[in-house]
Amino acid sequence: MHFHVMTLFPDMITAAMSQSIIGRAQKQGIISVEAVDIRDFSKDKHRHVDDYPYGGGAGMVMQPGPIYDCYQSIAARTGKARVIYTTPQGRVFSQKDARELAREEDLIILCGHYEGVDERVLEEIVTDNFSIGDYVLTGGELPAMVMMDAVARMVPGVLTNESSASEESFEGGLLEYPQYTRPEVYHGVSVPPVLLSGHHANIERWRRRQSLERTCKRRPDLLQKEIEAGRLSPEDLNIISQLESE
Ligand code: ADE
Repeated sequence: MHFHVMTLFPDMITAAMSQSIIGRAQKQGIISVEAVDIRDFSKDKHRHVDDYPYGGGAGMVMQPGPIYDCYQSIAARTGKARVIYTTPQGRVFSQKDARELAREEDLIILCGHYEGVDERVLEEIVTDNFSIGDYVLTGGELPAMVMMDAVARMVPGVLTNESSASEESFEGGLLEYPQYTRPEVYHGVSVPPVLLSGHHANIERWRRRQSLERTCKRRPDLLQKEIEAGRLSPEDLNIISQLESE
């Protein structure tokens, strides 16, 4: 998986993506992250890439030329690839999108800034508009990094323990059960005894119940989706009706 990020702040991308699991995956050559500075494609001696909006209004708009030339310099190497634009006007990015995008060989991401980007270049190059949630950020770099992180961890080999990608929250449609490690008693609170019992079937049952309970309390919308899709067992549904009557 090769990420190509078109940005006005390339250092922000390379610094954050060189850390932790994503950094390790880059060193191992499983993924690569290239940050391309849109300003390098400015024709202006002051490296300007924005101008006033036609029709008036507050703020500046990124001009189409530098973005298009930046895109061309990447596409000349990748060939046809999906181009993601990070925008609050996009569809909200989900785990399912992360899983699907992880199958691509190259992803080009355009980070927006200022008040916006000239619509003509967006129409010409963008294949997917994604938002990371219903709030407005100052730029598209953080959303781009959020999406790259979520996509990269779905690429085989990026996570060392493969099972940790499939059992976690969202992959099964429910939130993950709580986890505990040593010490056995912390600030007077003990680890749930079932986890020390060594009884695997009971541990599985307890974890399933915790997942259902958590999802019911914190994300009833997710639980409703699972129920409607018929993905829950009769035993699960039984637990849910118990929880609802508590
Ligand atoms: N740019 C600014 N806000 C954003 C958001 N919520 N998602 C994606 N891109 C953005």
